[in-house]
Amino acid sequence: MSLIMYEYRRLAPKAAQILLISVTWFCSLSGVSSTESPRLASYFGTKTRYEEVNPFLLVNPLLVSRKQDLLPSTCTPLQIVSVIRHGRRYPTQKQIKKMKQIYNVIKQSESNSELVKELQSWNMWYEDWMDGQLVKKGEEDMKNLAYRLASLFPSLFTADKLKKRKMSFTTSSKHRCVDSTKSFIKGLTHNYLQLPELPDAEQGETTCIEPTVNDTLMRFFDHCEKFIVQVEDNDTAMHEVDKFKIGPEMQKVIRKVATLLGVPEDQLNADLIQVAFFTCSFELAINNIISSPWCHLFDEEDAKVLEYLNDLKQYWKRGYGFDINSRSSCKLFQHIFQHLETAVFESKRSQQISSPVVMQFGHAETLLPLLALMGLFKDEKPLTADNFSSQSEQKFRSGRIVPYASNLVFVLYHCDLVESPKEEYQVQMLLNENLLPFPHSEESVCLFDDLKKQYSHLLHNCRVREECELMKTGHEDEL
Ligand SMILES: *[C@@H]1O[C@H](CO)[C@@H](O)[C@H](O)[C@H]1NC(C)=O
Ligand SMILES: *[C@@H]1O[C@H](CO)[C@@H](O)[C@H](O)[C@H]1NC(C)=O
Ligand SMILES: *[C@@H]1O[C@H](CO)[C@@H](O)[C@H](O)[C@H]1NC(C)=O
Repeated sequence: MSLIMYEYRRLAPKAAQILLISVTWFCSLSGVSSTESPRLASYFGTKTRYEEVNPFLLVNPLLVSRKQDLLPSTCTPLQIVSVIRHGRRYPTQKQIKKMKQIYNVIKQSESNSELVKELQSWNMWYEDWMDGQLVKKGEEDMKNLAYRLASLFPSLFTADKLKKRKMSFTTSSKHRCVDSTKSFIKGLTHNYLQLPELPDAEQGETTCIEPTVNDTLMRFFDHCEKFIVQVEDNDTAMHEVDKFKIGPEMQKVIRKVATLLGVPEDQLNADLIQVAFFTCSFELAINNIISSPWCHLFDEEDAKVLEYLNDLKQYWKRGYGFDINSRSSCKLFQHIFQHLETAVFESKRSQQISSPVVMQFGHAETLLPLLALMGLFKDEKPLTADNFSSQSEQKFRSGRIVPYASNLVFVLYHCDLVESPKEEYQVQMLLNENLLPFPHSEESVCLFDDLKKQYSHLLHNCRVREECELMKTGHEDEL
């Protein structure tokens, strides 16, 4: 992590100078852009921009750390296996419906305050058709990410490997994920490799790169009956979330916003307040509007409460709250390890690596369970409605972990050694392009064999079909 930041500090001043000139110029024209984060921007949970995690990208979206910073030069990357969340997107239909609802409440306010007048004359431009689709800036998220990852591992992201179809691109069937995958491919082929428009087929080499849809892998949560019944469709599973919604912290925010809006408190509730907060986030993420009137409804204290509400939900629905949340992802986990295993097998036999680049595109709901399965960002105590006060030390913060375009990358290295054994295989993990220490060792690198041992329980004792089955069978022989 520090290495990347170090690199940033070293490189930034020059780049920043040049960019600041153009940005200042741009600002004076449009009045919207900035290389600084607005005060609420890091509290948007899963609706946080990627730049909040790596702020130097606001200055230069193509900046990367030097690849040698990862492992010594006696190690060469053999393979990269990634799980990537789609880029920034429009609100979903459900969210747009709630937006309209609070907008109507505000329109009925008789307050004469500037803020209320501003909100009343705000243009409700979100429409149902948008329904969670990838926005233009979300395409850029992906193109830039492709450029940076390829720059980080240039020996893997080569035109030759692309043409020989050694790169695979798997995606969830959702529009925003398919579009994200396409944008990533475009960023790789056009922006990074600078290949011309590729002809469809060319002497046995198919150069037309198409994403493969696989929901079993990327939307495993839709295929896990136990998860659906016990968590997703279960009215009491989100008990802590519901409790927090009517708890003292949330009530305080509701009261404050009601006063600001000049509407009766009973016309508002936690869901509507949250959607107002998200509108602030969407205006920033989609249109780069730094000071939308929606943001003026909240101060940082309120933002922390709303962030906690978001995290609480992610925790119980996608994270450590229930075991089935993470267990339902073990097929994806095993799939990742199979790729690593195959690459090690091939390398040991001096064969070419058949899949040096594996890119998989999904959702925050894909990444969070997988991270929880691996034991990452686990707080000692569960997140509860009563524990907002310990938020500042909380590890499970979705805005840090799974913002738009978040990405978990496994890098497999082959290392030559002077002593016996003459070679070994090492793995590193990157989360959002920062080294992610392994939870068992706190180290940022791990021998592949040790990693397999560390996770042998997941590799051997987690069978999705059984995990996700509602009624555990297998006791017949006792009858
Ligand atoms: C999805 O991927 C899994 C794991 O590789 C595979 O078993 C399954 O057949 C794939 N499904 C589709 C529809 O391609
Ligand atoms: C719903 O969730 C509650 C709380 O976790 C649990 O006690 C209950 O068994 C769940 N209901 C179903 C049908 O799984
Ligand atoms: C919640 O906070 C209370 C008071 O600070 C503390 O006693 C309790 O252990 C905490 N519980 C959890 C689950 O963190």
